[in-house]
Amino acid sequence: MNDIQTSLIDYRIPSENVPETISESLDSDERKLLIDKVRELLIKENGTVVAHYYTDPDLQQLADETGGYVSDSLDMARFGNESHASTLVVCGVRFMGETAKILNPEKRILMPDLEANCSLDIGCPPDQFSAFCDQHPDHTVVVYANTSAAVKARADWMVTSGSAVDVIRHLHANGEKIIWAPDMYLGDYVQKQTGADMVLWQGSCIVHEEFKGKELLEMKQQHPDAKVLVHPESPASVIQYADVVGSTTAVIKAAKEMDALKFIVATDRGIFYKMRQAAPEKIFIEAPTAGKSATCKSCAHCPWMAMNSLRKLADVLENGKNEIHVDMDTIERAQIPIKRLLAFSKIQNQAIYGNNDA
Ligand code: 13P
Ligand code: SF4
Repeated sequence: MNDIQTSLIDYRIPSENVPETISESLDSDERKLLIDKVRELLIKENGTVVAHYYTDPDLQQLADETGGYVSDSLDMARFGNESHASTLVVCGVRFMGETAKILNPEKRILMPDLEANCSLDIGCPPDQFSAFCDQHPDHTVVVYANTSAAVKARADWMVTSGSAVDVIRHLHANGEKIIWAPDMYLGDYVQKQTGADMVLWQGSCIVHEEFKGKELLEMKQQHPDAKVLVHPESPASVIQYADVVGSTTAVIKAAKEMDALKFIVATDRGIFYKMRQAAPEKIFIEAPTAGKSATCKSCAHCPWMAMNSLRKLADVLENGKNEIHVDMDTIERAQIPIKRLLAFSKIQNQAIYGNNDA
């Protein structure tokens, strides 16, 4: 019997605390000038751009064309760790910049906007989380990448959406009981996949939480030839209709490799840029966010990811603004759960591919 407990406190953030999603608009001359400027500054500063799939296509394109990297949060961490650049400009949200700093304390980590946060990170205050861990001293503490450096410093393991099921399965096989934070939906999904004994923190992603199961079913009925791709930060009512549940990288791979020509996609719409590149002949439809009686707030686009813009990227490179700082004690403690994941995922990849490509 699984002992599924939940912390009783609701740490989801109210919609009035969610900023508006505002994307940058540039005319073509401004855009070209900014792109040229960023290219020059990256050379001058020995910098490289590491971007998440949810950021503006201009940023993703720049990263690709200048020797940088576009990926999910696991590979962003891996790339930053292996890059020879002395400045990493992380286009994403704050925990991604902090993870880069923790793994590369000697490097300068810049971000286009330090206000770019994440509802999961905001909904897991380090003091309260630490007190929660103290209540379950016999549990292994596993935190999602979408947390602050201080929360990671309190953890035994960090996981990402691309690695959570494998890590928890491994811990469960060792007989460990688990504290999981902060995403309650991802925690619920992982628990069902692995049967592990997990205590779940009650946080959520304000973007994925808005996808609607009932309306998704109706959309599926209107498009019976479409396959459904779902990020596991979505509620179980949405996940139940998925053909594939996976990290951002996993759903792009599925869109490319599956036979279907049409896909309904339940994740941030920023992902369509890479999906269309990966499978230009296929059709991608956004999964429904607003129910019949409700309206969406983020409407499938993360307001914090949208804070990253070309103009801000050029500005931080030119002026050295928005550097990420994490104190050395926190870095040393937070490195432990992150490095554990990187070592684990390297062994997993070797087991899958039988080589050293991890
Ligand atoms: P991935 O690691 O799957 O890219 O997820 C990060 C994230 O913030 C999704 O909302
Ligand atoms: Fe956080 Fe959700 Fe935005 Fe991802 S999409 S950064 S989980 S708020």
